[in-house]
Amino acid sequence: MNNKFPTLGVGATFPVFNHQKYIKFLSSLDEKIDVVELIISPFLEEDMKSVVKELKTPIIAHCTWLSLGTDCSPNKDVVKKIINQIEYISPVWWGDHICFNGVPEISSGTLLPPILTRSSLETFIRNINSIKKETKFPFMLENVPFLFNPLGEIDPLDFINILLERTDSGLILGVENIVESNEYYPIDYKEFLNSINLDKIIEIHCPLVKDTKKQKQYNEILEYAALLGVKPKAFLWQLKDNNTGLPDKQYFSECVKWAKNTFFSEVLT
Ligand SMILES: [Fe+2]
Repeated sequence: MNNKFPTLGVGATFPVFNHQKYIKFLSSLDEKIDVVELIISPFLEEDMKSVVKELKTPIIAHCTWLSLGTDCSPNKDVVKKIINQIEYISPVWWGDHICFNGVPEISSGTLLPPILTRSSLETFIRNINSIKKETKFPFMLENVPFLFNPLGEIDPLDFINILLERTDSGLILGVENIVESNEYYPIDYKEFLNSINLDKIIEIHCPLVKDTKKQKQYNEILEYAALLGVKPKAFLWQLKDNNTGLPDKQYFSECVKWAKNTFFSEVLT
């Protein structure tokens, strides 16, 4: 699967909302980035357009709106708005999460975990295969911050592998989400990475945070992924403000260099 996608290199993830400060930050760095992952919203189409006009790098689009596990017809209005934006952006690929976030009339306000039953698996497969027909741009799935709800007969990691296989989707390895999942049910990141089909990991995204304990946990996962020989096509440092401010520019540039050396030393010059 991995060979089907171009190697994009290292970049940053940021939301369309309040995009000016992220673009300003990135354009002031010594170390140039290769790619941007843009988190879109169905309700911020005009902001999305202005970001796309400003960016000079390839773009990956990311969203949280599709609720791929919901067992009823999707919210057609939201799906249409998202697909229109994907067509406008022309991303190298785009993605959403292995989760529920509500039914058409009511949003859960969060990304709820999959239930590990056969019928839930079939619902995900049906919805993902249906959304993939809406646009020609390749679609990827991300592990969620609450990886699974331990109800049902399917092993959680088998659930992900089957889903990736039967929908022919790549995996976005959400590093923060592995750490967060451990707050709900014990998830050993080594077991997670040992069990996932590594050839399906097309993208890795990981936050850079000021909480050193958290950052150490993220870095351990990244180092283990590198040790296993994971070769993503894109690596994104997630920029979040969260009232703690953006990272120090020098530090961010060093992190970009580290990711280039760690995951792309053989392919990027
Ligand atoms: Fe995500």
